[in-house]
Amino acid sequence: MRIEIVEGDITGRTVDAVVNAANSSLLGGGGVDGAIHRAAGPELLEACRELRATTLRDGLPVGAAVATPGYGLQAQWVIHTVGPNRHAGQTNPALLASCFTESLRIAEGLGVRSLAFPAVSAGVYGWDARQVAQVAFDAVRSYAARSPEGGVELVEFVLFSPETVAVFRSVLESGF
Ligand code: APR
Repeated sequence: MRIEIVEGDITGRTVDAVVNAANSSLLGGGGVDGAIHRAAGPELLEACRELRATTLRDGLPVGAAVATPGYGLQAQWVIHTVGPNRHAGQTNPALLASCFTESLRIAEGLGVRSLAFPAVSAGVYGWDARQVAQVAFDAVRSYAARSPEGGVELVEFVLFSPETVAVFRSVLESGF
């Protein structure tokens, strides 16, 4: 599994799946969630509403992930995950690690080869980008070590700001 760091907007990536840093309601929000919904179009919200009306009546738990089609995106799938919110006292790194691991597990089940993650929880949810990078790389490496050949081959981290890119690069180069 290859890890790459990309500066830019995740909504324009040509990958099989993009991961959305959603909230438990799955009904949209600001940040990367808002951007993904705008780019994918109203069908994405409809699909999320459908999930809420059927399998996820209480919402998507923190650390869990679920897939919908990508609709207007280049990506075939959106994998929605809910990061821990530091401002709500959710400071356990295992919850954040679970976002990455569960997204990879769902991706593998869908036959996804290339996957783009944003810096889950590093915006509104208040986590330090360095810690997000450490947890994310660690989760991806551990997942890769135990997953069979022929699954996800490329994991991109698509980061909005040059500062976040620099942090992720330094963590990756330090071996986290
Ligand atoms: N592409 C890539 N990264 C982006 C984009 C984009 N289009 N837009 C924002 N980001 C970056 C932010 O700069 C931040 O580093 O994504 C990272 C995650 O920030 P948030 O989107 O705020 O996500 P998070 O911290 O997990 O908070 C989730 O925000 O809008 C809500 O509905 C969402 O309530 C949920 C909360």
